[in-house]
Amino acid sequence: SLPVQGEGDAKEEQLKKYYIDETNTEETTLFGQKVDNTQSLKAGRRGPTLMEDFAFREKMMHFDHERIPERVVHARGVGAHGYFETYQDWSDLTAAQFLRTPNKKTPVFVRFSTVLGSRGSPDTVRDVRGFATRFYTEEGNFDLVGNVIAPFFVHDAIKFPDIIHAGKPHPDREVPQAGTAHDTAYDFFAEFPETIHTVLWALSGRGIPTNFRQCEGFGVHTYRLVTEANKSVFVKFIWKPKQGLCNLVWDEAQKIAGKDIDYHRKDLYTAIERGDYPEWEFGVQIVQEKDEMAFEFDLLDPTKLIPESIVPFTPLGKMTLNRNVTNYFAETEQVTFCVGHIVRGIGFTDDSLLQGRIFSYFDTQINRMKGSVNYMTLPINQPVVPVHNNYRDGAMQMGIPKGEVAYYPNALQGNAPRIAEKTYLDYPEKIDNVTKIKAQVPSVDDHYSQAQLFYNSLEEAEKQQLVDGARFEIGKCRMEIRERMVKILNQVDNGLARRVAAGLGVSPPDRVAENPGKTSKGLSIAAYPKPDNI
Ligand code: HEM
Repeated sequence: SLPVQGEGDAKEEQLKKYYIDETNTEETTLFGQKVDNTQSLKAGRRGPTLMEDFAFREKMMHFDHERIPERVVHARGVGAHGYFETYQDWSDLTAAQFLRTPNKKTPVFVRFSTVLGSRGSPDTVRDVRGFATRFYTEEGNFDLVGNVIAPFFVHDAIKFPDIIHAGKPHPDREVPQAGTAHDTAYDFFAEFPETIHTVLWALSGRGIPTNFRQCEGFGVHTYRLVTEANKSVFVKFIWKPKQGLCNLVWDEAQKIAGKDIDYHRKDLYTAIERGDYPEWEFGVQIVQEKDEMAFEFDLLDPTKLIPESIVPFTPLGKMTLNRNVTNYFAETEQVTFCVGHIVRGIGFTDDSLLQGRIFSYFDTQINRMKGSVNYMTLPINQPVVPVHNNYRDGAMQMGIPKGEVAYYPNALQGNAPRIAEKTYLDYPEKIDNVTKIKAQVPSVDDHYSQAQLFYNSLEEAEKQQLVDGARFEIGKCRMEIRERMVKILNQVDNGLARRVAAGLGVSPPDRVAENPGKTSKGLSIAAYPKPDNI
């Protein structure tokens, strides 16, 4: 049986059961026969190799099938284990047990990633980065699949394949293999100005972090917390690094990419090995139900953040990463984070990006796990609590369900499965009298207010960094796209557009009338520490 949470790391104990001791072993086949597989069986010294050589065939067959598809996005990543501790009992906010028992350690697994590059791409390219956390709670896995940038490019999941196709390498040349410096990305951004807020974050130092230990993390969407009494508040989840926030400058990022493509993964690994465990404060911005419509942007619009000057950050607890993985493939590659892995006391909102994600992760993982619907039984994916259901069969079924029934309700086997007293709390949100419509929340149309807010929040040196980033990245595009991007930047800030235009050979644009939907006056995004190196 697993250690009680708080008395040890339940996940580590579970994983240990699967460790395979490879020291001083004798070579065997997968079916246990001891063999010499250093030589193949031949007809005479000079061959040919015989079909009969089962050991050769098995070894080669296994090697031939070692690869699984890389993730369609976030292919390159690094993972680490750790634990989360809540600062206090947050029962007034949520029914989630892991946020209600102080001094209890909930095991976590975190995978940081770049989005666009393939599995072998360099770490320090300009990109958004993923910050995915799995909490192995006593109520099942809660996966908070976040990014290090607060807003997202598009508001509707149906646009996700487009933005990724635009950002991935050109289909004809397969270049560039990582980063966003190319025609199709900026063609899309210029066509779809709701992206500009996130594009500015990516062009700033946020797109080239110094390491993962000094990144913030954002759940991006508005979620719900739900109490036992079915009271709900809206929340944005945020991770704040105790190590501070730190970004590279472009020159450093490029040189490092040339010298050491593993820079970020080595940094995390070596920090943990030397006992310098990175920590993040986990918290929320809380919005009461009654204030759902109190903002000039819609809470369901993921292209917007909630400025911390309106809704402050409430720290809930702290996460520490203190253990490297034992095997990269078995843990970091086979972990299957999913937005749909959620626990009692946490709920979704109608954010259409979020709704689409709930489907996409399961679906892609069935492909990534080569058609097996049983991938959640892999060691890294198992929750630390028992799993019971009437799901049966499928490729790679690892368990042996006992009993004669596989349906519910049944009278033959009273435990198959009983519905627990406390199940997931589906918040009874009202959606009566709605009309089906292909549309979006109106605040998505205000593309520029928060982009301005972000730009204005930067120090002069950071503005220069953003300008340099934009010149470099957009400078890789054909002239027609440069001109369209300058027009978009001009909607954000004339000074910004002129400075970028000067580096692109584009004529400086005239000032445009103030963005009519402007909502950002006097607001600030967050009280984040400024990068140390600026
Ligand atoms: C990974 C889809 C938006 C964060 C993935 C994967 C897919 C996907 C298919 C690969 C999963 C796997 O193979 O295991 C989508 C879709 C989105 C969307 C359809 C929008 C509709 C976002 C947003 C965020 C995000 C807004 C951040 C808040 C991540 C992260 C990973 C990931 C961190 C990597 C997880 C890991 O480390 O294994 N996404 N995504 N995605 N996505 Fe998204």
